[in-house]
Amino acid sequence: MPTALFISTTDDPALWLPRLAAGRPDLEVRVWPEIGDAASIDYAFAWKPPPGILGTLPNLKVIYSLGAGVDALLRDTTLPRHVPLVRMVDVSLTDGMVEYVAWQVLDIHRRGAFFRAQQADAAWHGITLPLARDTEVGILGAGVLGSACARALAGLNFRVATWSRTPKAVPGIESFAGEAGLGPFLARSRILVCLLPLTAETEGILNARLFARLPEGAWVINAGRGGHQVERDVLAAAEAGHLGGFVLDVFSIEPLPSDHPFWRHPRIVVTPHNAAGNNAAYAVPRLLAQIERYERGEPMEDVVDFAQGY
Ligand code: NAP
Ligand code: GLV
Repeated sequence: MPTALFISTTDDPALWLPRLAAGRPDLEVRVWPEIGDAASIDYAFAWKPPPGILGTLPNLKVIYSLGAGVDALLRDTTLPRHVPLVRMVDVSLTDGMVEYVAWQVLDIHRRGAFFRAQQADAAWHGITLPLARDTEVGILGAGVLGSACARALAGLNFRVATWSRTPKAVPGIESFAGEAGLGPFLARSRILVCLLPLTAETEGILNARLFARLPEGAWVINAGRGGHQVERDVLAAAEAGHLGGFVLDVFSIEPLPSDHPFWRHPRIVVTPHNAAGNNAAYAVPRLLAQIERYERGEPMEDVVDFAQGY
């Protein structure tokens, strides 16, 4: 009987185990820390596991991440590199991120904060708003999430461009790539959305140099990882007033400490790493399909490239 270890420091196994049992009755699923015989574990379903454990499972065949970003798993220097690591790509993460990004882009574009403040004062002042077709959105990252958000925003008529390591050819969406493409991409991005993975190359990318290359009044939305933003540069840019402001869903320290200046800054919107979360109802069928592929000897999808770090 194949055996899996559910090892997550944040996910409730009660939401996952019945679905796993219904979809795959012959799969024994143990829940960390009840590992039992470590040698009998074939698969790990992992999210932010305590470092050092996955490396102690001698016959592990595949590690399935319960989330899209694998930076926390890769920070574990004992993570076995000969075992394939598969990211979670499913409709709940993709739709959740599309909804979050569309919400925040539209709120910025339609001046949501201005109208909420007006209502608080019972003030009635109409303003002329630009149209989406005249507004440039730039998305850092053109992967599963970045490209889904790009398509959705293009569907609302925004002028959308993406920036990625390798160029893309998606009708209606301008593609910029690599270091050479970053300058022109930033110069046109009135609303910048970060949906990059956190790697050695992308850490700290949202910094003062990058902010200076954005147009006057631009907004920055970071739904990637907290490690993408240099916090002191975000605060300095929010103070300086060159940018419109920031929407931040992710932080270097989570939960964001209650005395952190981001919480109360008038140009910073904080959401609690809530843009897109996994949902067992959609993630379990995806996990089981990936295991079936593996067991049939077929290539799995969304396998992490250890050399690239995502
Ligand atoms: P993905 O499919 O792997 O896409 C990553 C994209 O980033 C790709 O387009 C890739 O370029 C680009 N990229 C990577 N390194 C780059 C570099 N050095 N320069 C330029 N482009 C680079 O990832 P995804 O599924 O879209 O997820 C993206 C991230 O979203 C995750 O890693 C996670 O951190 C974050 N996330 C956040 C939440 C939340 O709730 N806030 C939820 C889910 C995910 P290529 O296409 O050329 O390879
Ligand atoms: C959430 O942040 C994820 O990476 O799935």
